[in-house]
Amino acid sequence: MLSKPLALLLLWSTFGATLSFAFPSLSGVADGFQDLSARWGKDKPNHDVRLVQNPPTPPGPPRYTGTKLVNDRQHPWKPVKAGDIRGPCPALNTLANHGYIPRNGVASPSEIVNAVQEGLNSNNNIGLKTRRTGPSPPPPAEAGGLNVHGTFEGDASLTRGDASFGDNHNFNQTLFNKFTDFSNRYGGGFYDITVAGELRYSLIQDSISTNPNFTLKNIGYIVAYSISALPINFFVDGRRTDGKLSIPDARSFFKYGKFPRDFYRAAQPVANEGTDKVFLAHPVMPGGNADGKVNNYVLDPTSADFNNVCRAYESVVAQVQELYPNPTGLLRKNLIKNLQYLYIGAQDYDSLNLVVPFDLLSSLDTV
Ligand code: HEM
Ligand SMILES: *[C@@H]1O[C@H](CO)[C@@H](O)[C@H](O)[C@H]1NC(C)=O
Ligand SMILES: *[C@@H]1O[C@H](CO)[C@@H](O)[C@H](O)[C@H]1NC(C)=O
Repeated sequence: MLSKPLALLLLWSTFGATLSFAFPSLSGVADGFQDLSARWGKDKPNHDVRLVQNPPTPPGPPRYTGTKLVNDRQHPWKPVKAGDIRGPCPALNTLANHGYIPRNGVASPSEIVNAVQEGLNSNNNIGLKTRRTGPSPPPPAEAGGLNVHGTFEGDASLTRGDASFGDNHNFNQTLFNKFTDFSNRYGGGFYDITVAGELRYSLIQDSISTNPNFTLKNIGYIVAYSISALPINFFVDGRRTDGKLSIPDARSFFKYGKFPRDFYRAAQPVANEGTDKVFLAHPVMPGGNADGKVNNYVLDPTSADFNNVCRAYESVVAQVQELYPNPTGLLRKNLIKNLQYLYIGAQDYDSLNLVVPFDLLSSLDTV
């Protein structure tokens, strides 16, 4: 079940690319490709972009899923060149800098799926036409995925500032200093799951007390908890079994987008395992600072949370429907096809009746 979150994330990438002019992150793209400079939900849609091709089925898992050297000779780190695009995600930046995805930072969803599998051993739970793999875990279950990495929101990130402060995607040294400080205080100099729980809570408190526009809802809420677990699962060398990320290795990923020397990927396919522990250390429910005032955190009982993950799916659907009240032709077809992937993945989270837009179900046979 822990794999579901990432599944949804990957689903999103399939999904997002189709909406190339719907989402700001994708505003520089055409033909189903997207760039890594995700600025979720902030900018206006770019209607100049050409409509995408027929979105392909998400790729399957690779044959070999054990650990292996990934910082190898075929994938040397190279510095970013003028015109290359990088974004807020240290994993994708690293994969681009090592050539697992195109170094210019413009990649198709399939390329991204393949790269996170090959370079980091993410699992392949992309929610193809499979049935659920088991019952949902009891609350508060993990979530994330699509939600992970705030498709639309990402306040209180680990090393990137809140959008309100003007830069939500570049590495911020002040925040990394805090990351280091917490690792020293709670993890004996390493970032581990205990540090993750303490740091997550403290970052939320920081945003509450400094960001009048702080919001921690729906996808952004689930993302905030999930990204805290990802560095442990993915950035710790696959030959280690202690779940401890050293500060130099963390800096390598977060700051330089670079695999540590001789880096081996995870020993088995992983996703956002541990998110539940991060949450349970200091549970904060979804909400935001109201009325543009700091220290005015008001809960939002309508938001997705770990008991109501399906609401994250619904918030995506609502946004899509807002953007495309009456899609036609190829756009409509691609929306249906990709929302179908999203829907199939989301079902694993929740037995609630999911919203099915654009007569999705009745169209399934035709896509
Ligand atoms: C193995 C797979 C991945 C890992 C280990 C990973 C790891 C991370 C981590 C640790 C962060 C937090 C950065 C910080 O707070 O300083 C992050 C942020 C982010 N990632 Fe990823 N990521 C993965 C895949 C992806 C994919 C496939 C996408 C999209 C296609 C993505 C999009 C994002 C975005 C948009 C953010 C910013 C979220 C925010 O603003 O809070 N990531 N990622
Ligand atoms: C905060 O939110 C208000 C109201 O939505 C908006 O007008 C303002 O530009 C935002 N401030 C920042 C710094 O994002
Ligand atoms: C980095 O983050 C800190 C803490 O949020 C903030 O005060 C500072 O302005 C940020 N620095 C940059 C260069 O954005």
